[in-house]
Amino acid sequence: MQLDDIVPWGRSYREYRAMFTLTDEDLGGRIIGVGDGPAAFNAEAHARGQDVTSVDPLYAFTPEEIRSRIRTIRPQIEAGLRANPARYVWDHFPDIEALIAHRLDAMERFLEDYPGPGISARYRAAGLPRLPYEDGAFDLALVSHLLFTYSDHLGAEGHIEGVQELLRVSREVRIFPLLTLDGNPSPHLDAVTAHARAAGWNAEVLPADYIFQVGGNRMLRLSRPTA
Ligand SMILES: C[S@@+](CC[C@H](N)C(=O)[O-])C[C@H]1O[C@@H](n2cnc3c(N)ncnc32)[C@H](O)[C@@H]1O
Repeated sequence: MQLDDIVPWGRSYREYRAMFTLTDEDLGGRIIGVGDGPAAFNAEAHARGQDVTSVDPLYAFTPEEIRSRIRTIRPQIEAGLRANPARYVWDHFPDIEALIAHRLDAMERFLEDYPGPGISARYRAAGLPRLPYEDGAFDLALVSHLLFTYSDHLGAEGHIEGVQELLRVSREVRIFPLLTLDGNPSPHLDAVTAHARAAGWNAEVLPADYIFQVGGNRMLRLSRPTA
């Protein structure tokens, strides 16, 4: 994957906790964040003694390359927000400036923690549909703003293949949000939940403690039944 194909834009630990309604018990397990990009979740979790592994094709690049890419895409992100303010709920952030400042702080936190390609096992350059881990290596897999968000790019098959792989490496998976980049309900949610139930997994749509996209305060929780 080329860096030009990636839009590195990352959320904070606080946002991850709220999006996935993470409890202290959840945070005590082995967690994998798939598509974490330049989010601060791993850095902050590590500082709290929590066990988080992040996987993203972005980690094939150096911190300097990622910092420069963030600088390049920032105006596009800001222009997108200004063009469509009504698509978003301004509860967590009072305005666009506050949101951008929060995200830039989060990404700076990531950049302070991220040492570069191949140096830390906490940041692995890889991605769906194949994760370089053994079956059941994690208790909880978190996917923020990748599956469902990029519904057009991945398609129904890509989503099903993705959740199969996530449930291979982790006994539970949480995906947030269930909307596309444009703020529409993902056309793949029904196919994914139907596939999950046919495979004998639990699939529930649950409220999240977080909303930014209008109608976007729900997550999908999938789990393998406990033996
Ligand atoms: C919109 S960003 C979300 C970043 C972070 N999860 C957050 O919510 O702050 C989407 C991320 O997905 C990553 N990505 C794209 N394709 C991927 C794949 N096949 N497997 C894993 N990550 C992927 C991108 O590199 C990017 O960092």
